[in-house]
Amino acid sequence: MERVVVCVTGATGFVGGHIAVELLKSAPFHWVVRACVRCSADDAKLSFLRAAEQEREQKEGRAAACARLEIARFDIDDDNNEQQDRDAFRDAAIVVHAAAKVAFESSQADTEIVQPSLRGTQRVLMHLDRSTTRLLLFLSSIAAVRSFDQPDTHVFTEADWNSWSTLANGDAYGYAKTAAERMVRDFAQAELQKQQQHRGHVPLQVVSVNPGVCLGPALAKAHTKASPLIVRQMLFANSLVADQQLAVVDARDVARFVRMVAERALAGPSATYVDYQRFVLVCDNLLLSELAALLHNCADLAQYDVRAVFDHPFKLWCKSWLMSPFWRESFARRCVLDGSHAVSEFRQAESASGVEVDTGFSYTDIRDSLRDTALTMIREFGITPRAKATAAS
Ligand SMILES: NC(=O)c1ccc[n+]([C@@H]2O[C@H](COP(=O)([O-])OP(=O)(O)OC[C@H]3O[C@@H](n4cnc5c(N)ncnc54)[C@H](OP(=O)(O)O)[C@@H]3O)[C@@H](O)[C@H]2O)c1
Repeated sequence: MERVVVCVTGATGFVGGHIAVELLKSAPFHWVVRACVRCSADDAKLSFLRAAEQEREQKEGRAAACARLEIARFDIDDDNNEQQDRDAFRDAAIVVHAAAKVAFESSQADTEIVQPSLRGTQRVLMHLDRSTTRLLLFLSSIAAVRSFDQPDTHVFTEADWNSWSTLANGDAYGYAKTAAERMVRDFAQAELQKQQQHRGHVPLQVVSVNPGVCLGPALAKAHTKASPLIVRQMLFANSLVADQQLAVVDARDVARFVRMVAERALAGPSATYVDYQRFVLVCDNLLLSELAALLHNCADLAQYDVRAVFDHPFKLWCKSWLMSPFWRESFARRCVLDGSHAVSEFRQAESASGVEVDTGFSYTDIRDSLRDTALTMIREFGITPRAKATAAS
């Protein structure tokens, strides 16, 4: 069977890592996962990917003759290496672009957060192998959907775009994700026109996945400081500043959704014209205090003093004078995101009876996500939470 190359940029990161692992463990065996990373010699960062490859081979009893994992170089900061970019995406049937600067504070936000994310996305679009690539999947975010210029009663869906965030109001990350996703959408629309005008043009499906704050097992120590950091703060009973509402999802669900979209794209007829598609992935909208209460009630963590600690209202009031409008809005607002479209996408109406058939995508219970986030940190990455005080102590 012909090998199918799936490129994943940012495969060493928390979410990109889950996507690469899901593909290594669950995609058809003839799929090759090419991790496109900025440092291909960093064995510590790549070890969880190699372990996933070995696990699948052992499970299926295959020899390592056909590698399931390839490593290529792709650096979103390096604009002067066109050949390296082309080599990274050569022969790929699917490209998942997950690499980005994930940071919420910087004194040089434009050069450190916005420009690398935009230039990196632009280079992915420029250097795709258009003779082979059938699906481009962009890992966007709810930061490109949620917009603080809407009232709290507004429920955000795929129809919404963030029109509030700017560098000036302090949300460089939301601004960068929105601008990068708009670039991808414009590219998709231009591709669709080319497909309609030139019969020989290879059809390219473009999909954006917009997850909420991702929880789930850390696969490497560095991931404990990505979005699972909120659970880490609860384990250490460190301050989370204020009781913010978060739209949350399990990173394993994001990975599973990406695999299902990828499998479907390759299984479908090769000449269908598909417009840009967008999926918000959100399981629940909960306050940090509600997430902490769920974690607190988890039987596996009964011996630990897990809780959400917030700044004293007076301290918060003092701090708020120094905060950017972005943080002030984040702490004050209750944005609700609706992740149901992604679930319905994988339900098909049976042609004869009209009955819906669930083909398999649903969200993990957020209590399981919280538990697994905490337990991997404790058991695999040496994080020791505060123990509960006993009656005697
Ligand atoms: N975590 C969430 O809650 C969440 C929610 C919605 C969307 N997302 C999106 O998911 C993606 C991954 O985020 P994450 O939370 O998993 O963050 P992360 O763990 O920090 O991963 C970021 C990834 O981007 C890579 N990267 C950073 N700078 C790079 C560069 N100059 N060249 C090449 N690669 C570079 C990192 O590589 P190194 O390992 O070498 O640093 C890492 O693989 C981002 O696009 C983010 O916007 C995340």
